[in-house]
Amino acid sequence: MAELSVKHLLGIKYLNEKDIHLIFETADHFKEVINRSIKKVPSLRDITIANIFFENSTRTKLSFELAEKRLSADVINFSAGQSSVKKGETLIDTVNNILSMKVDMVVMRHPNPGAGIFLSKHVNASIVNAGDGAHEHPTQALLDSYSIREKLGDVAGKKVVIVGDILHSRVALSNIFALKLQGAEVKVCGPKTLLPKHIESLGVSVETDLRKALEWCDVANMLRIQNERLDISYFPTTREYTQQFGVNKKMLDSLDKEIVIMHPGPINRGVEITSDVADSKQSIILNQVENGVAVRMAVIYLLASKIK
Ligand code: CP
Repeated sequence: MAELSVKHLLGIKYLNEKDIHLIFETADHFKEVINRSIKKVPSLRDITIANIFFENSTRTKLSFELAEKRLSADVINFSAGQSSVKKGETLIDTVNNILSMKVDMVVMRHPNPGAGIFLSKHVNASIVNAGDGAHEHPTQALLDSYSIREKLGDVAGKKVVIVGDILHSRVALSNIFALKLQGAEVKVCGPKTLLPKHIESLGVSVETDLRKALEWCDVANMLRIQNERLDISYFPTTREYTQQFGVNKKMLDSLDKEIVIMHPGPINRGVEITSDVADSKQSIILNQVENGVAVRMAVIYLLASKIK
């Protein structure tokens, strides 16, 4: 059986193109399963997974839990806010206590970049990064590419622009790695203050004019401003940001082709995207969420096969 080149999913940076294809082929199978009347398979009946979240989440947390349950794994959930972390317990102590309850895999979201990498070196379990600060969000990038592949047939050769707060976005970095690995052309677009210096070294081009970026692309992935990670203001006002970098229906309708609109969520309606765009037929935002379950089933299934 084909297997992943990695034992943990810490970032797209550690995957190769074959890994991504294997995840997508496996996700194709699971997508078919979750559209049946019986949406469950017994594959992981002997596996226990802990979802530990030190940061808020709606989509990722629910999607992982559902993916694990659809694979028949035993699942425990931990939210830092209601835990003994509040009494000063360290990350390693917390996880080792959870692992002593015979847990095989840990899915972790953490505000600190590299938290998953750190954990993987100190505990004996397979670690899945569900978002670590402004570093990586690998399963989001996988489900994003999977959704492009589903909509446009392939990722290779497609032109994708990522718009918004690139500087503080783990989604942007993971998407850049994933899209480049698969042979897409990638552009980033946003205020200069929200574009990391030397971002071109990742093989992407830079555009500060949203209209030009939209004219160029097949797919626009709209990101929200990561207000929770902004210590200072990076643009004059939200209104001015929206005027320059928000996508609206009038702008989309004036392009000479129909581009695909994506957003990882949560959406700030009326800031980076208007409601009529988010809810339009060009938008695949809810398809991304739907695909997240199949892609996460694939990731967990493939990593679990390396534990056994
Ligand atoms: N896209 C995403 O990570 O959303 P959540 O923060 O709700 O999980």
